[in-house]
Amino acid sequence: SSTKLWGGRFTGATDPLMTVYNESIHYDRHMHTADVRGSQAYAKAMHLRGILTEHERDEIIRGLDLVEAEWEAGTFKIIPGVDEDIHTANERRLGEIIGTHIAGKLHTGRSRNDQVATDMRIWLRGKLEEIEGFLTDLLKAHVGRAEQDMHVLMPGYTHLQRAQPIRWSHWVMAHALSFSSDLERLRELYKRVNKCPLGSGALAGNPFEVDREFLAKELGFEGVVGNSLLGVSDRDFIVETLQWAALAMNHISKWAEDLIIYSTAEFGFISLADAYSTGSSLMPQKKNPDSLELLRGKSGRVFGQMAGFMYTLKGLPSTYNKDLQEDKEPLFDCVRTVADSFQIATGVLSTLKINEQKMREALTMDMLATDLADYLVRKGVPFRQTHHISGAAVRLAEERGFSGIDKLTLEDYKGLCDVFEEDVHAEVFDFEKSVEKRAAIGGPARHRVLEQIEKVKAVLGA
Ligand code: ARG
Repeated sequence: SSTKLWGGRFTGATDPLMTVYNESIHYDRHMHTADVRGSQAYAKAMHLRGILTEHERDEIIRGLDLVEAEWEAGTFKIIPGVDEDIHTANERRLGEIIGTHIAGKLHTGRSRNDQVATDMRIWLRGKLEEIEGFLTDLLKAHVGRAEQDMHVLMPGYTHLQRAQPIRWSHWVMAHALSFSSDLERLRELYKRVNKCPLGSGALAGNPFEVDREFLAKELGFEGVVGNSLLGVSDRDFIVETLQWAALAMNHISKWAEDLIIYSTAEFGFISLADAYSTGSSLMPQKKNPDSLELLRGKSGRVFGQMAGFMYTLKGLPSTYNKDLQEDKEPLFDCVRTVADSFQIATGVLSTLKINEQKMREALTMDMLATDLADYLVRKGVPFRQTHHISGAAVRLAEERGFSGIDKLTLEDYKGLCDVFEEDVHAEVFDFEKSVEKRAAIGGPARHRVLEQIEKVKAVLGA
């Protein structure tokens, strides 16, 4: 049908379902600003090559400003069946505003193939900048908590079994370091998103020798995509974003899972603010950590988007194929999910209350059995032997029905090994001392946690 942008060669009508199936306007309209900016830059570049007069260029720029204003005001009327995607919609409307004689010159030497690739990169760039801000906030919330709660001790776990005492702040910073790597990776991938494909044409480049470096500069890109075949088909910047998001959401999921466990009555280490909890429609006493469960759950959704789009790309030949239109929905949804998740996580962490006493009570003397062995190591006994002696102390305390190995007397200890001295109780059975002794880089000793905080601050400041 001749109303279609590409209708010239067609005589037969399109299957109505095919028309809808083919359309991307209901989601790619979110890129209207990027599309307008790309076209305005292109009009300038075409004027530089003498394809547009100064007047035509200015009319196109003015008209596109009006189109953009309609999108902003929510008055842009999409014509179903005609406005296939954001590119056709904007060009159709531009023609109505400034006349098709001038509007019809805009697309000279350009294709929707280089146009859409450019729009996506402009759109994504803006979103990644926003996300960087949200991730920065999340990291600041971690740093704030770690500093404020430095004195709080808790059990560290392996296999979800109590293992050794750590600082709560050490737990906080373990996650913060993952998130700060996510921030570094984000800044890295941004550079690859920020390349301009405009001027690649449909695939074989631009016949009017459009100044691609001018276009890149005009649109705020750092450089151009260096091959036109690649320019129209390269979606690595989307794959990388999805993969980045999948990993970041994996970090969020682990973090959320820890906090869900810590928030149970059985642990009671933390309680979520009402703002991030919900109730049960049946059980009046319930306060559920829905925020954390959604953070954990949405990571699955993002992995799916990543894997799904990889499948879409696999087996495609070079250059543009319509399959590539399938890049938008996963990307848009993923970007929104990640942006929201970082903000929710920030809210959760900065408002949750920690129950220091519960954390303390969960520290048991058997968690210092390694410290008991280390005590003897410091007095020259080989570790394999001290491990055995410490194990014997645990057994002896159990046999005596004692609450912990700290209840054994000096005589009991000397009976197990004559290297034990009067200082054993004071040196070993003190959780704070145990934590402070773990003073190698990356450990839970106060100054080492402060170092971790400084590392993250340095990434934030970079
Ligand atoms: N809506 C299309 C997309 O998202 C724009 C590019 C269309 N190009 C084409 N040759 N049909 O990919």
